[in-house]
Amino acid sequence: MAELDIRPLLFADRQWVMKLADVSQVYCPRCGEEDLGLAAISAETPLGYIVWQIVVDEATLLGVAVYKRQRHCGVATAMHKYSEQQLLSQRVKKLFLEVRRSNTIAQTCYHHLGYKIIGERKNYYRALNNIRQREDAIIMSKSISI
Ligand SMILES: CC(C)(COP(=O)(O)OP(=O)(O)OC[C@H]1O[C@@H](n2cnc3c(N)ncnc32)[C@H](O)[C@@H]1OP(=O)(O)O)[C@@H](O)C(=O)NCCC(=O)NCCS
Repeated sequence: MAELDIRPLLFADRQWVMKLADVSQVYCPRCGEEDLGLAAISAETPLGYIVWQIVVDEATLLGVAVYKRQRHCGVATAMHKYSEQQLLSQRVKKLFLEVRRSNTIAQTCYHHLGYKIIGERKNYYRALNNIRQREDAIIMSKSISI
């Protein structure tokens, strides 16, 4: 992969971001309106995005997605590590996220990044393939410091 650049998510990114969020079935950012939104770019081609909400000294991961053909190459890890530096500079100390119980790849990724499971929300999500069914959310958290 060519060199990876991580930069703020812009309003001009909204088209590819909407499509990527749609095919990945995850939260679609408003591009430029989140507390922290980042895009990963390589050779002028977008690879993925990550977005956060910040409340005082806590940040919640609103969404992260990487194009299928670029997955398992370290893009989410790079965006996450860059986010941590940005969040630390805004005095954030604790990170939270929710992930579908069935999304074992994302959970592995978060474990890899140092998150621990701290709880669950029963029937939190609408099931992906059956709108009449629900799916639990796993809640994960991680402390960060300089
Ligand atoms: C979850 C997602 C963002 C991970 O992005 P990624 O760029 O592929 O992740 P990375 O390459 O940084 O992988 C980090 C770790 O996650 C795990 N991982 C990633 N892809 C994996 C796969 N296909 N199989 C098993 N483990 C995997 C590995 O532990 C990996 O570390 P390693 O490379 O040392 O083995 C990506 O799969 C994605 O966009 N999925 C669809 C959207 C989604 O589920 N978002 C999360 C919603 S909570």
